[in-house]
Amino acid sequence: MFLNSIDISKVRNLVSVSIDCHRKANIIYGANGSGKTSLLEAIFLLGRGRSFKHRDLRLVVNRGQDSLVVSGKVARPISDAEHQLGVMRSVKGDFEARCDGQNLSSAGQLASELPIQLVDAHSFSLLEGGPLQRRQFIDWGVFHVEHGYSDLWRRFQKALKQRNQLLRHGRIDEELLKLWSQELAPLNEMIAEQRKEYISQLQKFISPVVDAFSGLGAVSLEYSQGWPEGSSIIDVLLADKERDIATGTTSHGAQRADIKVFVDGVAAADSLSRGQSKLLVYALKLAQAAHYQSATGLSCVFLLDDLPAELDYENRKDVLAYLDHLQCQYFVTGVDKKDFDGIDEKLSQLFHVEHGVFSKG
Ligand SMILES: Nc1ncnc2c1ncn2[C@@H]1O[C@H](COP(=O)(O)OP(=O)(O)OP(=O)(O)O)[C@@H](O)[C@H]1O
Ligand SMILES: [Mg+2]
Repeated sequence: MFLNSIDISKVRNLVSVSIDCHRKANIIYGANGSGKTSLLEAIFLLGRGRSFKHRDLRLVVNRGQDSLVVSGKVARPISDAEHQLGVMRSVKGDFEARCDGQNLSSAGQLASELPIQLVDAHSFSLLEGGPLQRRQFIDWGVFHVEHGYSDLWRRFQKALKQRNQLLRHGRIDEELLKLWSQELAPLNEMIAEQRKEYISQLQKFISPVVDAFSGLGAVSLEYSQGWPEGSSIIDVLLADKERDIATGTTSHGAQRADIKVFVDGVAAADSLSRGQSKLLVYALKLAQAAHYQSATGLSCVFLLDDLPAELDYENRKDVLAYLDHLQCQYFVTGVDKKDFDGIDEKLSQLFHVEHGVFSKG
């Protein structure tokens, strides 16, 4: 997918911004606090319906305003058919999304129209942080290649919520608890199966990226499904009854899944330098984009916040070259124009941003 143009109204310090985007490289430079990350926020809002920085919309809508609007023209590769996408969010929590004038009912539908990959300073918690980020990483991939996954995930969340509510209830109806466990079990199995299949497919796309980068060894992923391998989840849920009642939560299941990332057989988080960890996160996201492309024929739009602060010159060059190889459109930010010296100006568009105002060059 390619974002041909974007119109932004009242996103952080971007009061009214319209940009014609380059099909390949969009380079945004400007002083601290000028509005670079805010542009990436606006694109992310258009693709995901939410902010990547804040849950509280009051922090994302321009101060003193009630709502923000982002719209854009998105083109598909090959057919080049252009769609008009739009999203509105208000500080009160309203959400409206449209594609070609038709209302969309969920942020997931926006994501299908504009698949986005973001890498910013927080993305590195993919290796070092808790399992939630890693589950989100896997689920991004499964969602984008398996059509029924978001529905399956919604059904699972609903059943899990019901079981957890029951566990926290003063007097437990054991029959009802068994019923919710039985409802939850096959959903767990289906999610685990789809995630497992996704990870084994993704693995094939990691090696070519890693080979194109210098300084990383052989990367492998090890998936844990959230309950002991070889056990049936219904048996586990039934056996967990007393423990789950005591803790008031479901202790096993797809909500506890995780992946371990190994480099040359050693846990990445324990063995890599800070810079190598960052490069590995880029590699994982690029592999995910390559897999998505091979499965759907579509490309992702990459948002790379403050790339020069995250990687050295050689690694930056490798990351951008791989994005070119995948023919992904990208938006990359940095403070200094000279950090992007060496990028072919004929194949990119430079934007300078000052106090929320963008100019070309
Ligand atoms: N809700 C808001 N309304 C108006 N301005 C805001 C809001 N939230 C943040 N800002 C301001 O928007 C400006 C741009 O922030 P942004 O994060 O986009 O800067 P940046 O160019 O990425 O800077 P840096 O180089 O430091 O990362 C900042 O001055 C910030 O204080
Ligand atoms: Mg920033």
